[in-house]
Amino acid sequence: MTELDTLKSALLAEIAGAGNEAAIEAVRVSALGKKGSVSELLKTLGSMTPEERQNRGAAINALKTEITDAITARKTVLKDAAINDRLKAETLDVSLPVRSSPAERGRIHPISQITDEITAIFADMGFSIAEGPDVETDYYNFTALNFPEGHPAREMHDTFFFQPDEKGERKVLRTHTSPVQVRTMEAQEPPIRIVIPGKTYRQDSDATHSPMFHQVEGLVIDKKAHVGNLRWVLEEFCKTFFEVDSVVMRFRPSFFPFTEPSFEVDIQCDRSGPIVKFGEGTDWMEILGCGMVHPNVLRSGGLDPDEYQGFAWGMGLDRIAMLKYGMPDLRDFFNADVRWMNHYGFRPLDMPTLFGGLSQ
Ligand code: DAH
Repeated sequence: MTELDTLKSALLAEIAGAGNEAAIEAVRVSALGKKGSVSELLKTLGSMTPEERQNRGAAINALKTEITDAITARKTVLKDAAINDRLKAETLDVSLPVRSSPAERGRIHPISQITDEITAIFADMGFSIAEGPDVETDYYNFTALNFPEGHPAREMHDTFFFQPDEKGERKVLRTHTSPVQVRTMEAQEPPIRIVIPGKTYRQDSDATHSPMFHQVEGLVIDKKAHVGNLRWVLEEFCKTFFEVDSVVMRFRPSFFPFTEPSFEVDIQCDRSGPIVKFGEGTDWMEILGCGMVHPNVLRSGGLDPDEYQGFAWGMGLDRIAMLKYGMPDLRDFFNADVRWMNHYGFRPLDMPTLFGGLSQ
């Protein structure tokens, strides 16, 4: 047997023995690659005499062709086998239900939804959003808002007080979003048109009160803002928010230290069914407090009450969420119960907009 025959049978044996595509590729490289055994033989052709080349050259080329064909054939077999193996292993049950993505399954909490709805409504009317700290000074929470020292109105708020700090100052958890009124007046020039959604705190807990709750405050300051403007803004808000064509509102005289005159606003509703309906019926429901900003509050904000005037309002966000979506117990809002969220939560990709709909 010649040396070529030996090499050939060795290579054919290797080819037959290659069990997968990687193995056959390794054989190809070892025979036909740059430094492969067959390639090395081909390189010797150059140093042969013409006669030698005629015999041996033809034999080497024949070997190369045979090995190339054998490798190609083996590769095809192995490729088919690999596909068959995958087909057997990777069965796909097309009748299984598609699992929804996290973005589909997650839910937006009603408080976040209501905040987005309110923001969309007031942004459309030209308002911006303002925010302030939850841990507030006694000054911004009370004094700057015209609560006299030692006045019982301070007690009415069931305030959470912190221990006095090193300077003897006793901070509070803000009892309302109104402190952001003065903070905003200090920070920006009129005209001011802002809404302030945020967390508020009072020592109170039952089906309609929670120690942490949410309010949304509104403030408009310019040279001519008046009660008629206030009434229009609130009516437009209520119609859009409750998604009804008309609402009837009742302004009752009231008292807040930071507004003069002050009002409490009721909206007409029908409470005969399981869900309160607005825009119809003969009942009234209180939804917010409002009034013209007190001159002392304007002064606290660094504004001259002879030059500027304005109106403000504040309402319980959780409360109007309960009304709009028929949620009976406020405490459920903060229990982190997935079943409640699945029932009352909102689909994450349906963002509330005035053109797309607030509460699809
Ligand atoms: N801060 C008041 C409260 O928490 C609500 C309120 C009433 C806010 C009248 C206002 C307002 O801005 O004008 O009870």
